[in-house]
Amino acid sequence: MKKAVYPGSFDPVTYGHMDIIYRAASMFDEVLVSVLDNKAKSPLFSVDERVKMLKLVTSDIPNVRVDSFSGLLIDYAKKMDVHTSIRGLRAVTDFEYELQIAQTNRLLSGGELDTILLITSLEYAYLSSSSVKEIASFGGDISKCVPPVVEAMIKEKYSNRS
Ligand code: PNS
Repeated sequence: MKKAVYPGSFDPVTYGHMDIIYRAASMFDEVLVSVLDNKAKSPLFSVDERVKMLKLVTSDIPNVRVDSFSGLLIDYAKKMDVHTSIRGLRAVTDFEYELQIAQTNRLLSGGELDTILLITSLEYAYLSSSSVKEIASFGGDISKCVPPVVEAMIKEKYSNRS
């Protein structure tokens, strides 16, 4: 069975992430979308909330599983018996960061974890979780950026904060 992991912060999941998830799901038998539990960051959504939103928006894709992990991706991939990591590449500005992660993971895993970079579809090339949060924090329209269920969760988050 061909398996891949799509790791990320997904704070929140955007249509750009969804684009990558759908395309990865058409290439692999199983795609594990895994939320990084990064103690160093202070995310808008908890890991449990991000797992919940990812489960909701991928419920129609039978070969996608949602999970979370902490620590190194190579250790998680080994535990899950996955040898391919999927990442989205939006523009040239992403390239150096993605190259660094891909090279490091390949080196640290002794070649056991390879990375496939999928070029994000043009309409989502400038979409980021950070810009979605900024727009939402000022009450802007994020309906073109995130699925409706995510939009509702973000609106609830900001209404509870104010
Ligand atoms: O959505 P993001 O924040 O760009 O995702 C970054 C992610 C989760 C892919 C990366 O930070 C990661 O894999 N972190 C886990 C720690 C790790 O394995 N670090 C070594 C690779 S540089």
